[in-house]
Amino acid sequence: MALYNINVNGESHQVDVDPDTPILWVLRDNLRLLGTKYGCGIAHCGVCTVHLDGDAIRSCAYPISAIDNKKIVTIEGLSEAGDHPVQKAWIAHDVPQCGYCQAGQIMTAASLLAQNSNPSDDEIRRAMNGNLCRCATYTRINRAIKTAAKDM
Ligand code: FES
Ligand code: FES
Repeated sequence: MALYNINVNGESHQVDVDPDTPILWVLRDNLRLLGTKYGCGIAHCGVCTVHLDGDAIRSCAYPISAIDNKKIVTIEGLSEAGDHPVQKAWIAHDVPQCGYCQAGQIMTAASLLAQNSNPSDDEIRRAMNGNLCRCATYTRINRAIKTAAKDM
């Protein structure tokens, strides 16, 4: 075990965990931030996506020892009132079906739009490619990202 000082959603925390503990488990088990979900556990489904200094990363496959003072943002910290442009567009387009993948989808979309406020269809497809949705909400996700882009 080792002590790590981490910044999550603007708050500092100290956690005592093994160095190879994935960020996902620190978020869920130590900090009880349950919005970030577990799916495949091998960086293939995107359901566990959070931001690390703004970049979308797979928290299931990213060890706590590698965060290097970078700031983590989870779906809980994306906006104070759930009114980030991506979240508003998700509601406007009624995107979620079962909802399980959606926190990861939103975090990937928010990271994309922070880095590219007017992405093409191809750029959206590439950015969202690693986020799987077993309910196949992809068409609505694409529309919502285009709506959110106008609001960024
Ligand atoms: S649970 Fe992390 S990518 Fe699937
Ligand atoms: S909404 Fe059900 S898995 Fe995506």
